[in-house]
Parts: sequence; C-alpha cells; structure tokens
Amino acid sequence: MALSRLSIQNLRNIQAATFEPCDRLNLIYGPNGSGKTSILEAIYLLGRGKSFRSAYSRRIVRHEQPELTVFGRIFSADGRLHSLGIQIKEGRFRAKADGAFEQRSSGLAALLPLLLISPDGDKLIKGSPRQRRRFIDWGLFHVEHEFLSIWQRYNRLLQQRNALLRRKRRDLLQAWDNQLVAAAERLDQFRRGYVDSLAHQAQQFLLRLLEFEGIEFRYQSGWPEADSYGEALRTNLDSDLKAGFTQRGPHRADLGMRVRGGAAAEVLSGGQQKLAACALLLGQASVFNQGKRENCIILVDDLPAELDTHHRHAFMQLLYSVGGQLFVTTTDRHLLELDPFPEKRMFHVEQGRVTPEKEDGD
Ligand SMILES: Nc1ncnc2c1ncn2[C@@H]1O[C@H](COP(=O)(O)OP(=O)(O)O)[C@@H](O)[C@H]1O
Ligand SMILES: [Mg+2]
Repeated sequence: MALSRLSIQNLRNIQAATFEPCDRLNLIYGPNGSGKTSILEAIYLLGRGKSFRSAYSRRIVRHEQPELTVFGRIFSADGRLHSLGIQIKEGRFRAKADGAFEQRSSGLAALLPLLLISPDGDKLIKGSPRQRRRFIDWGLFHVEHEFLSIWQRYNRLLQQRNALLRRKRRDLLQAWDNQLVAAAERLDQFRRGYVDSLAHQAQQFLLRLLEFEGIEFRYQSGWPEADSYGEALRTNLDSDLKAGFTQRGPHRADLGMRVRGGAAAEVLSGGQQKLAACALLLGQASVFNQGKRENCIILVDDLPAELDTHHRHAFMQLLYSVGGQLFVTTTDRHLLELDPFPEKRMFHVEQGRVTPEKEDGD
C-alpha cells in the first residue's frame, strides 16, 4: 500500500500541510527545526496510533491550538482506496478508518504497516530485550494472522497466573499452567520461525553495510533451553510463589546477536550498531514484502547525515531495493545521490510549510 495524500493540521510547527507523495521514494528536505521529523511523526501516528517522540500526546499538538488532525488517503495493492484519520484533542486520541471509529492500534497497523529507521535505531542492538521482543512481534503480527490472538492469549493467561501467585494459590495453578504452556509454546514456535527468516534476509544487508561475515542471531525463549516450558514452570514454582510473579517464559525472551564470539552491543562500534540496526529493519521489511501482497512503508529519519558517503549510498540502494513506499528526511538533499532512483518526489520543508519540488529533468 501507499499513502497517496497526506494532510496535517496543527502538529508541532506544522499549521497546515497537504501533499501527495509518490509510491516509491519521497525525499523530505529542509533545515534543522523545519518540521521534517514532524511529517514522519504524522505518518507514524496514522499507522501506529502513537508518536515515536513523545509519550504525551498533548506535546505533539501545536502550541496554543486545541487539536491536531492527520488525514491519509491510502491505496492498497488490490486497488482499493482507504482513508485513515486521527485527532488528538484535550489529550484524547481518536482514530477513524474508512469512516468508522477504530479503537485498536492493530486495526491502524493492518491498514498502514510502517517501519521507522531513526538515528536512535541502535537501541535495537544495545537496548533492552523488550525492544527486541517488540521488534520480532511487530514482524509476526503482520505476517502471521494467528499471531495476535496467541500473543493476547498468552499475556492474559500470564496475568491470571501472576494474580494466583500473588495470592499464593498453589492449588489453582496447575489448571492455568496447562493453558499457559500451550500458548507459550505456540508463541515460541512463531518467534523462532520468524527469527530464522529474518536472520536470512538481514544477513545480506549486513554484508553490504558492514562488510564482514555478519551477525549470528539466536532466539532465546525466556526459559532454560533444555527444558520444556511446562518443566521450567514446575522447577521454578517455589521461586515464582515467593516472587509473586512468573519469572520465566516468552515475556522474558530475547534475540541474541553475536559477532566473532562476543555480544554485538560490545563488539560493534556505535556507527556499526546503527548500520546493523538498519540491516535488521531492512530485513524485516523484506520478510514483510515477500510474505504479503502489500509492501510496508519505510520511514527514514535523518539517517543519511550520520553515514559516510559510501555507506549512505549503499544504504539508499538497499532501501530502494526492498520496495514499497519510502519517506526519507535529510537536511541536505545534495548528500544523497538520487540519480539511480527512477521513481521519486522531493518535498522542501521550511518553518512547517511543505512545498513539492518540480520534477527535475523534464
Ligand atoms: N507542540 C509544538 N508546537 C509548536 N512547535 C513545536 C511543538 N513541538 C515542537 N515544535 C517545534 O517544531 C519544530 C519542528 O521540529 P522537527 O520536526 O523535529 O524538525 P526537523 O526534523 O526538521 O529538524 C521545531 O522547531 C520544534 O521546536
Ligand atoms: Mg528531525
């Protein structure tokens, strides 16, 4: 799918902007503070129902204004036209998909799947396991339609088990555990399968961006490998009762990444970690695009500025090769060599105003 029109009102320094992106590369350029990231934030709000910059939705609304709205027109691969609209008013978030209120962010994500590559993307490498679980689960949510219900089921059962642990109801636990184990094992299978395909895809990007043999990926279940989950729960029961919560399980899983025998977060330089994170995200986009008839949208915030010319160029080529609609922001459009990309549109941003650039060369 692709956004064919985007309208933004009162989002940060953008008072009103409407523009029509092309289906492939959209380059958004302008000086610092002009509103480039805010445009990506608007698109992200449509597809994810939240910002990637502010936990408080009030902060996103333009100062002194009562409400923010973002509206997107979306073309899906089957030729259908959809609309997505969001509003933030008095701290309340409301979304409409095709004219009907949409409460769930999963509903937005299904209509507008998008990935963000941002300067702090290296959190994926050096951040907490939770970030990597989210990353894996985002990918699965889009490629396995059963995944969301299994994930929700697991989390519901886990909360119920934790409530029993807090109340020291050892007598009631067994009945819950059987169901929890079934959901956990299914979740684990999904994630393992996904990490296999992801690692396979990411490896080719790693080779191109990092010029070395790659990263060894290993999914860690969140309980000792030698045991089944049922055994792990039994072995740990006394300790869980003491702690008052379940200490092992898919909610503790992680994606291990090793380079030449050491943890990637320790072996790779800061710049290499950013590139590795890019490779993982591009890998995720590839898995998505190959598994579905639709392509996901990729938002790239400011990344090219941090890379040297060679890596910037390699990154842009790989990004374009993944397919789908792309939004890339940069302060200096001349940093990017754009000739190799036939389908593109450029937008200049200045003090919150967005102006499409005339197609050059014709
Ligand atoms: N709630 C707000 N209302 C008005 N302006 C804001 C608000 N939040 C941030 N800004 C301003 O919006 C501008 C655009 O920021 P940003 O999109 O990050 O710019 P860029 O990515 O082009 O550097 C900044 O100058 C910032 O100070
Ligand atoms: Mg920015």
